[in-house]
Amino acid sequence: MITFILNHQLIQTDEPAGMVLLDFIRYKMHLMGTKAGCREGDCGACTVLEGHLENGQVRYKSIVSCLTPLGNVQGKHIVTIEGLQKDKMSPIQQSIIDNSATQCGFCTPGFVMSLTAHSLAQEASSPQKVVNAISGNICRCTGYRSIKHAAADISAVLAGKDMKNPLEWLIKEAFLPEYFRDVAGRLKKIKEQAVSTESGKPVAGGTDLYVQQPDVLAVAEIQFMNEDASLQKIEIEDGFCRIGGAVTASSIVQNEALERYFPKIKAHFKLISSEPIRNMGTVAGNIVNASPIADLTIFFLALDAVVEMQAKDGRKRDVPLRKFYTGYKQLVLQPGETIRAIRFRLPETAVFNFEKVSKRKYLDIASVNSAMLLQLKGDVVETVHLSAGGVFAWPFYAEKTAAFIRGKKLSPELVSEAAEVLLSEIAPISDIRGSKEYKSLLLRQLFLTHFTEMFPQQFTPEVLFSKIMAL
Ligand SMILES: Cc1cc2nc3c(=O)[nH]c(=O)nc-3n(C[C@H](O)[C@H](O)[C@H](O)COP(=O)(O)OP(=O)(O)OC[C@H]3O[C@@H](n4cnc5c(N)ncnc54)[C@H](O)[C@@H]3O)c2cc1C
Ligand code: FES
Ligand code: FES
Repeated sequence: MITFILNHQLIQTDEPAGMVLLDFIRYKMHLMGTKAGCREGDCGACTVLEGHLENGQVRYKSIVSCLTPLGNVQGKHIVTIEGLQKDKMSPIQQSIIDNSATQCGFCTPGFVMSLTAHSLAQEASSPQKVVNAISGNICRCTGYRSIKHAAADISAVLAGKDMKNPLEWLIKEAFLPEYFRDVAGRLKKIKEQAVSTESGKPVAGGTDLYVQQPDVLAVAEIQFMNEDASLQKIEIEDGFCRIGGAVTASSIVQNEALERYFPKIKAHFKLISSEPIRNMGTVAGNIVNASPIADLTIFFLALDAVVEMQAKDGRKRDVPLRKFYTGYKQLVLQPGETIRAIRFRLPETAVFNFEKVSKRKYLDIASVNSAMLLQLKGDVVETVHLSAGGVFAWPFYAEKTAAFIRGKKLSPELVSEAAEVLLSEIAPISDIRGSKEYKSLLLRQLFLTHFTEMFPQQFTPEVLFSKIMAL
């Protein structure tokens, strides 16, 4: 039995835990406001709010219901468009009307839910943050300008939000109906209940699996990785960081302690998927999916992360992430083994950079991505790790290039020679994201960009480009 609150209603259902929430909402509960669009997490028409208890309060985020298995909403509060105001418009709905930010209306419930998630965020609003909140919503009618105007109006209203008591303020201002006040108390009463099957297929956020095999999973035995609270921690101790396998991209980017070590992490992670997918997709899911362009994997490869795994009988082992792949979609992970966490040394004095180029800047997978960490001693490179995606059959750790750079004096000459080594050790293929020649060229540019970003005084694009041309 799966128990959760849907809008104001307590749900106790025996439907299969692998069934997607979208189908439950529309075809079992007959709430048709949540739309079925792409069913691949791309369009945002099916966006709902998911609230979970944290320190006695309910924290809400936007998720796509088309990729969320019912098992992942046990003990949570799910809000659909029907769970907002019924007899009057919320300020979000009103600003959409006032700005003509809806035409056919198919996308509108999804936009309203993403914007409502933004209104519930713990940080102050800004027009740009409102736009970020709808990064997972696509509209084919309006052309977005009117939606941006609505976003600016919403942000202006939210400027008055009482940050000390946001829930009461949002209820008073009709962003939320009154029943939200009681949700925390009601969630506390729901008995913790495991819905996992030990021998089942591991599912974390579902953002890879449910795109690929929704029908199989709908009736499959599933091990819900998100049930295990120990997999959801980010721990920082003695210069190391340990990130649980079920930690989402959003939890990483919202971690203030990590932001100290990765000052550009918000900009870097903004290039990864969209707000709701970042709210759902996990580190372990990204690693095990083994996509050659997996962004989180590329990011953590350049931190030389170690993967902590555990077998069903409790046996544990650690494998460096750079040794995790043995072929296209081939992993050292054995059947029954799961990823508990990754850990890496924090870049205290080292510099780090992440780059990604895709056909569309946002909400697109990479054509080529790359990350690099450099630790200097004086002007000599003491430690270097370099990763690249889209140029090999799996997320690539550039071992030869790193070995070439290590121990040498950092100079434009070294960088341009290392770029040649890098191009000699990759094996890109031509596909829908570009020809192999284009990908090689792109990786070289991203490699140079690491240096212009990490050492802007020493490496200007002009200096590096002239060295490359001279080779
Ligand atoms: C619209 C959209 C946009 C996307 N954009 C990007 C993008 O820009 N960049 C990017 O890198 N990815 C992107 N993705 C892919 C996906 O979101 C990420 O790969 C995500 O990190 C997957 O995590 P998950 O928890 O959802 O994985 P799931 O789908 O739950 O699982 C993926 C795989 O990992 C296994 N697994 C999960 N957890 C564990 C564990 N603890 N131990 C062992 N095995 C486990 C599962 O069995 C499965 O084989 C996108 C996906 C969508 C739908
Ligand atoms: S239906 Fe398109 S994101 Fe869910
Ligand atoms: S109003 Fe028609 S898709 Fe957005």
